[in-house]
Amino acid sequence: ESFFASKTELEKKKILITAGPTYEKIDPVRFIGNYSSGKMGFALAEACARKGAEVVLIAGPVSLKVNHPNIKRIDVESAGEMYQAAISEFPTSDAAVLCAAVADYRPENQEPEKIKRETKGDMMLHLVPNKDIAASLGAIKRENQILVGFALETKDEIFHAESKLQRKNFDFIVLNSLRDQGAGFRCDTNKIAIIDRLGEKIEYPLKSKQEVAADIINKLATLLK
Ligand code: CTP
Ligand code: CA
Repeated sequence: ESFFASKTELEKKKILITAGPTYEKIDPVRFIGNYSSGKMGFALAEACARKGAEVVLIAGPVSLKVNHPNIKRIDVESAGEMYQAAISEFPTSDAAVLCAAVADYRPENQEPEKIKRETKGDMMLHLVPNKDIAASLGAIKRENQILVGFALETKDEIFHAESKLQRKNFDFIVLNSLRDQGAGFRCDTNKIAIIDRLGEKIEYPLKSKQEVAADIINKLATLLK
């Protein structure tokens, strides 16, 4: 692949990417979150932008920066905000890559004042389910749109990844296993497998998140042709 080809391969394509964790507020000073750093999603945004795509990066709370002119960043905090941004950007996108670690539940009530310590006893937090952004986009996906999902599993990896691929109407899914050394949260490296709708599975060796992003975007580019 020539340098020139790689710079224009995704020209005129709009690609939506979700990245990072979401924070679900408990009260003004506390939240429920997860360990996602956003590094994989940001690497995907850079990889798409370098190939000439127009990128919309919907980012949960992360400390990362982007500085590519083709990347429009929308900062959100909660799963609800991420859902709103994704639903409004998807109809005009050619593809969406859903890399965010979206909280599955949020506290039913956000207390307006800081919750005070009780003198003794347990405390219960009632959680309600968040909307599934991926499944919602999968349900409205048009014939010519491509949807890419992620799965982070600790056991029965292939089974869960394939069922998510079907349930959420993905074109392919990127599987991360937390069992692999040097893969997953907070790492600069990752080890993935890609499973597509035909059941084809490609396993990749341990690589930097930049190189993993390039592998994923190469697969996406072949489907967008
Ligand atoms: N996802 C999403 N919105 C959600 C939850 C998940 O868009 N509310 C996306 C993720 O970004 C990822 C894919 O769906 O691309 C799979 O996420 P995962 O958390 O593995 O799937 P869940 O259906 O939430 O299943 P689990 O019970 O394993 O968490
Ligand atoms: Ca989940």
